[in-house]
Amino acid sequence: MSWDDPSVDWAAADLVAVRSTWDYHRRCPEFLAWARRTQEVTRLLNGAEVFAWNADKAYLIELASRVPVVPTRLVDDADLVTRLAEGIADFGAVVVKPRTGAGGIGVVLAATVDDQRLDNLVAAPWVLQPLVESVRTTGETSVHVFAGRAVSRVDRSVAGEEVRVHESYGGSSRAVPLGEETSALAEATVAAAAQLLGADLTYARVDLLRWQGGWVVSELELIEPGLYLDVDPANAQRFAALVAGVT
Ligand SMILES: Nc1ncnc2c1ncn2[C@@H]1O[C@H](COP(=O)(O)OP(=O)(O)O)[C@@H](O)[C@H]1O
Ligand SMILES: [Mg+2]
Repeated sequence: MSWDDPSVDWAAADLVAVRSTWDYHRRCPEFLAWARRTQEVTRLLNGAEVFAWNADKAYLIELASRVPVVPTRLVDDADLVTRLAEGIADFGAVVVKPRTGAGGIGVVLAATVDDQRLDNLVAAPWVLQPLVESVRTTGETSVHVFAGRAVSRVDRSVAGEEVRVHESYGGSSRAVPLGEETSALAEATVAAAAQLLGADLTYARVDLLRWQGGWVVSELELIEPGLYLDVDPANAQRFAALVAGVT
C-alpha cells in the first residue's frame, strides 16, 4: 500500500508499519502530515514525531552527546563558505549532504572551498562531515535493531572512486553475522534515541562507519527500515514477527 493513496482507509488497520517510502525525502512535509493524520486513527509504528526528528540529519548532533557519531555540523546558504573553510581546516576533505535526503542523493565531496564538485550541491540546508575514508575500504555496516535488540547485519561496500555504498552507485551489500561491538553500539544508539524522544522505537537500522579506530554512527534510520531483503531475505520473517508481536 502506498502512503499517498487517498483510497486507503488507514483507520481500518489495527496497525500501520512503514516499509519503503523512497519518495518521502522529496515530499517530506506531505509525508509527515500523512503520518500525523494516520496516527490519529490507528497505531503507526515509531510514529510521526519520530519520523519528523529522523527526517532531518541534525538528529546526529543530538545523538552525539550519547554515542559516538561521525562529527556533524549544520550548514546553510548564508554560512556555506565559512563552514567549508572551517571544516576543511579541521578535517581535510569533507562531505556536504542535504539535511533531508535518502539514497545517497546530493552527497558531495570537497577538498577546497572552490572544489568543482560543489557545483553538484543540492538545495540548502546541509550537514557537513569529515570524509570518512574507511568507507572505501571497510565500507559501511548496517545493523537492524528490532524491539531494542540487534537482529541482523549487512556489510556494504563501494565501487571505484565512489563513496556511496548504494547499489545505484555500483555498491554491493552482503549479509554477515552480528558482531558484539557493532550490535552493542547499534542497540545503545536506538536506546539513546528512544530516551531523547521519549518514544517507543519498534524498528531501526543503524549505519556504522570506522572512524579514528572505532565504530561511529553515520545514520539512524527510523522511518523506512530498509530491510535489504535482496541480500538477507530472513529479515522479512524478522520484521513480520516484530509486527505480529506488537499487535
Ligand atoms: N561523511 C562521510 N564519509 C564517507 N562517506 C559518506 C559520508 N557521508 C555519507 N557517505 C556515503 O554516502 C552514503 C549516503 O549518505 P547517508 O548519510 O547515508 O545519506 P542517505 O540518507 O542518503 O543514505 C553513505 O552510505 C556513505 O556511503
Ligand atoms: Mg544512508
